[in-house]
Amino acid sequence: MRKWYRNSHYTIYNADSLEWLGSERANSYHAVVTDPPFGLVEYTAPELNKRRKGRGGIWRLPNAFDGAKRQPMPRFTVLNGHDRMGVLAFHLRLAPELFRVLVPGAHVMLSSQCLVSYLVAQAFCMAGFEARGQIVRVVKTLRGGDRPKFGDKQYRDVSVIPRSCFELWLLFRKPCVGRVIENLKRFGTGALRRPSEDTPFPDLLQVPPARRPERAVANHPSLKPQALMRFLVRASLPLGKGVVLDPFMGAGSTIAAATYLGLKSVGVELDSKYFTMAKSAIPKLVDLEVTG
Ligand SMILES: C[S@@+](CC[C@H](N)C(=O)[O-])C[C@H]1O[C@@H](n2cnc3c(N)ncnc32)[C@H](O)[C@@H]1O
Repeated sequence: MRKWYRNSHYTIYNADSLEWLGSERANSYHAVVTDPPFGLVEYTAPELNKRRKGRGGIWRLPNAFDGAKRQPMPRFTVLNGHDRMGVLAFHLRLAPELFRVLVPGAHVMLSSQCLVSYLVAQAFCMAGFEARGQIVRVVKTLRGGDRPKFGDKQYRDVSVIPRSCFELWLLFRKPCVGRVIENLKRFGTGALRRPSEDTPFPDLLQVPPARRPERAVANHPSLKPQALMRFLVRASLPLGKGVVLDPFMGAGSTIAAATYLGLKSVGVELDSKYFTMAKSAIPKLVDLEVTG
């Protein structure tokens, strides 16, 4: 482990989660809300270096799209069979570690992507988690071109892949001990918190993307909007008690959301620049007023 920082609300570590998790106590976290590096290639040190230099690598998108300049994004459609095996192997290591550190009934909310979600789900179910459905956030992403590469003029009526109009979150639960009511009483977990007493937790969400003020304080390529993270983190602890873990914290959007909600959290980030970014961004994200 290289660096860490702690205050009365959260602890964040600059570490490799897969190693870090191995030294955590069993049954010590009550929810995981995270956005893993699902392509795995894009967040390796060589690819991040290329992105930081603004040259080459997996981080590509046309600089201008619809007349607007955008940041480079990872190209998930380039995953080959070997990469997919890598994604499966990574989650086969991650899922049992998470299972061990979570209390019974704890939920895992995991941002995913249609091209790899089946591999992630397989790994989590093999580790003993129950699949508890999927949450769809309606949002137009810019990933992947839909026209044939080098053939966009010639084949104008052709889409090679559906244009993605949603973001997928996978939902898992460590099995409860006894009935849900017993598990709730004993561990404060086993269920999801309703947005309000009259409204069940839904699996279809409309939340706008991270706005400029959020990006200004947390310039991470995969930054999740506070409106979304506050909604999900709140739901992850049914009684509003316990500790939320984000093992792939990035700029700290989960940790900021938990702090905003008055909940305790722990974040882990491998890249030291993103760790430093999170350290300064979290308090600013907490203070942001967002609508969702
Ligand atoms: C998709 S991003 C998460 C971004 C985050 N949702 C946010 O709003 O800022 C995934 C993050 O996981 C980090 N990461 C990749 N492998 C890791 C590992 N083994 N342990 C900890 N962090 C890792 C990457 O550096 C990246 O910042």
